Amino acid sequence: MKVTVIGTGYVGLVTGACLSEMGNHVVCLDVDARKIEILNTGGIPIHEPGLQELVQRNASAGRLEFTTDIARAVAHGTLQFIAVGTPPDEDGSADLQYVTAAARNIGRLMTDHKVIVDKSTVPVGTADRVRAAVAEELAKRGVELAFSVASNPEFLKEGAAVEDFLKPDRIIIGTEDERATLLLRALYSPFVRNHDRLLVMDIRSAEFSKYAANAMLATRISFMNELSRLAEAVGADIEQVRVGIGSDPRIGTHFLYPGAGYGGSCFPKDVKALARSSAEAGLPSKMMAAVEAVNEEQKLVLVKKIVAQYGEDLHGKTFAVWGLAFKPNTDDMREAPSRVVIAELVRRGARVQAYDPVAAAEAKRVLALDLGPDALSAVHFAPSAPAALAGADALVIVTEWKEFRTPDFDVLAATLADKRVFDGRNLYDPALVRGFGLAYHSIGRR
Ligand SMILES: NC(=O)c1ccc[n+]([C@@H]2O[C@H](COP(=O)([O-])OP(=O)(O)OC[C@H]3O[C@@H](n4cnc5c(N)ncnc54)[C@H](O)[C@@H]3O)[C@@H](O)[C@H]2O)c1
Repeated sequence: MKVTVIGTGYVGLVTGACLSEMGNHVVCLDVDARKIEILNTGGIPIHEPGLQELVQRNASAGRLEFTTDIARAVAHGTLQFIAVGTPPDEDGSADLQYVTAAARNIGRLMTDHKVIVDKSTVPVGTADRVRAAVAEELAKRGVELAFSVASNPEFLKEGAAVEDFLKPDRIIIGTEDERATLLLRALYSPFVRNHDRLLVMDIRSAEFSKYAANAMLATRISFMNELSRLAEAVGADIEQVRVGIGSDPRIGTHFLYPGAGYGGSCFPKDVKALARSSAEAGLPSKMMAAVEAVNEEQKLVLVKKIVAQYGEDLHGKTFAVWGLAFKPNTDDMREAPSRVVIAELVRRGARVQAYDPVAAAEAKRVLALDLGPDALSAVHFAPSAPAALAGADALVIVTEWKEFRTPDFDVLAATLADKRVFDGRNLYDPALVRGFGLAYHSIGRR
C-alpha cells in the first residue's frame, strides 16, 4: 500500500518504519528540515531501540522515504496518517494547530480519494474538525473529491516503540466508513496474524480510548506515589505493599511502581487535556486534577529528602545525578522529573554532575532553556555513571536505566563524600546498600 505519514517524530517515524517493514511504500513528511536531512543522510534524530536498523533497511530497499515536500507527500499515500504533535495549549487543552495544518495541506493538494487517519492523540471530536478542514480547503478550490477520516490512536511506549508497534496489544480503529475499515484492516493484518487484536469502533470511542488509557496509567502511578508518602509516615514499606496488592489479578503487577513522578510527552499533557475536556463538558474531573497535583508534588520528593538532610542552602554541595531522560531507553526529556530535580538543586546553590546513557545532548538543550546560561554552568555532564560520582557528596537516581541496577557499592561508598544515595526509583535493597556503609533514602520505605 502507499502510505504517507505526516509528522516524523517518535510516533510518525516508528509508524513509517514499521509499515515499510511489512512491504508498504511509505513517505514520511516533516516540516522540520533538520530531521529530514538527518534521516536522508542515514542518521536518526531520536534514540529508540531497534529503530535505526529498521529505518536503514527499509530506506535502502526504497520502501521508506523522507521529505519536506508537502505536495509530494499528499500525492503519494492513499492512506494519510497524521502523527504530528498535540502539545498542551495554555488552558491545558490539546493544541490542534498542527493536526489542522496537516489536514488543510491534504485538502489543499489532494487529487484523488484519501483515507485520512488521525494517529496523534486528539480529543473527542477532532475527526470532525479534520473532516471540516479538508472539506473547507476542497471547497476553496471548487473541487469535489471523496475522502474518509478515521481515528487510529497509537499505544506504543517510548523505549519499546518498535517492539510495541510490531507486536501490538491491540490496534484501535475508529471508522464510520467501510472503505477506510477495509484498508486499515488490510494494512494492519500482518501485525495481528496470530490472533486478532484489531478493535473497530466508532470514531469518538476510539479517540476517547487513548485518553482513557493514559489517564488510567497516570492514575495508577499517582495512586502509588501518594500511598508511598503515607507508607513512610506510618512505617510501612511500599515495595512490600506493591507486591501484596499486585498479586490480586483485579489489580495486577504492572505499572504500580512508586517513584520520582511521571513525565514524558504523553501522560502530563493527556491528563491535562482530559481534565480540560471534562470541564468543557460541564463535568469537571476531580480525579484528573488530583492525579496531576500528586505528580507535581512527587517530582519534588527527592529534593525534599535532600533538603531534609542538608537544609535549604546547598552551596558547596555536589550531587551526582544518574538518569535524565523521563524514562529508560529513550532520549526524550519532555517533562522529565530530572529537570525539576536539577533546577531545584541548582536554585539552592548546589553543583550537579549529571549522567545519562543517551539523553545528555537533549538534556543540555532543554536545561539551557530551563535554567539559563548562568545557572547551567552549575551542571556538568559526565561521560559515565562512575565519572559522575567523582568529587560528589551524594548520588541522586532519577531514571532507572538498567546500568544503574547493580553498581559497585564499594566504589559508591569510597567515592561519595557523604556516603549517601537518594534513589527515586527504589532500585536497591535498603539492607544491602546500608551494608556497604551508605545512607540510603528511597521512596516509601523506612
Ligand atoms: N511519544 C509517544 O510515546 C506517543 C505515544 C502515543 C501517542 N503519541 C501521540 O502522537 C503524537 C505525536 O507525538 P510524538 O511524540 O511523535 O511527537 P514529536 O514531537 O516527536 O513529533 C511530531 C512531529 O510532527 C512534525 N510536524 C508538526 N506539524 C507538522 C505538519 N503540519 N506537517 C508535517 N510535520 C509536522 C514536527 O516537526 C515533529 O517532528 C502526539 O499527539 C502524541 O500525544 C505519542
